[in-house]
Amino acid sequence: MVLASCGVGTALGAPADTMEQRVAPCLACHGETGADLESGYAPRLHGKPAGYLFNQLVNFREGRRYNHAMNLMVAHLSDAYLWEMSEFFAEAEAPYADPVTTPAGSETLRRGRQLATEGDAALNIPSCQSCHGERLTGVEPNTPGLVGLPRFYIMAQLGAWRAGTRRAAEPDCMHDIANSLSGSDTQAVATWLASQPVPEDPSPAQEPAVEPPMECGSVNLPGYEQ
Ligand code: HEC
Ligand code: HEC
Repeated sequence: MVLASCGVGTALGAPADTMEQRVAPCLACHGETGADLESGYAPRLHGKPAGYLFNQLVNFREGRRYNHAMNLMVAHLSDAYLWEMSEFFAEAEAPYADPVTTPAGSETLRRGRQLATEGDAALNIPSCQSCHGERLTGVEPNTPGLVGLPRFYIMAQLGAWRAGTRRAAEPDCMHDIANSLSGSDTQAVATWLASQPVPEDPSPAQEPAVEPPMECGSVNLPGYEQ
């Protein structure tokens, strides 16, 4: 894990700004593996693609994604500052919690696995694997993994895309996918994903294994340019 102490304000007697100091408030909510809060679920940040984390922080700042605490946290932070924190968390490692075995009928799990690995052409739903990676651990630089996330966080994000309280760069493929998932399909895919063990190597794939089946505006967004 890289602990960069290259904070912007350290020169010329300005207040110390080490990366540890910067991320301490974040860890109070996010922990190393994510945490259940009264205000919702704070997902893990460690090991996620830097470009994905950066895009989310910008989305919270610009109001494309809504969470009161997060919107306030990043309201006045510059792109450069957000990018440095994103790189820090992308390189940080932390163990994954064990998958939760949710009591779910075998039909729910079968349908969930089908959506994740094959999709459902009749409903216009591509497989989750085709974009989130064969191992579902994400794809560099901007696509997150789907394993190692709690079931209700996944359901909440899909619900937020449907409700318009989470948006990504246009074309927002996840908006279309979330809209094509019925309530029971949303539950099935979230239940199956949350019951999967995280592969031994949890790092995101370096590049997509297959041609993505739809265009997603966030996939090719550049990271922060110095
Ligand atoms: C008061 C609690 C709290 C604090 C403090 C906090 N977060 Fe969050 N964060 C959350 C919650 C809750 C979510 C999930 C919101 C949602 O459901 O969309 C979140 C989501 C995120 C996401 C999106 C992750 C993903 O997988 O999509 C990122 C990135 C993030 N936070 C980074 C940070 C950073 C960096 C800091 C410190 C500067 C921070 N957070 C501080 C509660 C917090
Ligand atoms: C065409 C490509 C594509 C397909 C297919 C796809 N996704 Fe996504 N997904 C993305 C991208 C890109 C993002 C990042 C969006 C952003 O930057 O907010 C994403 C983000 C997500 C997130 C947010 C994760 C987090 O940490 O907050 C969830 C949950 C999700 N997808 C679930 C699914 C599920 C379930 C399926 C299968 C039914 C699926 N996706 C299929 C491209 C895709």
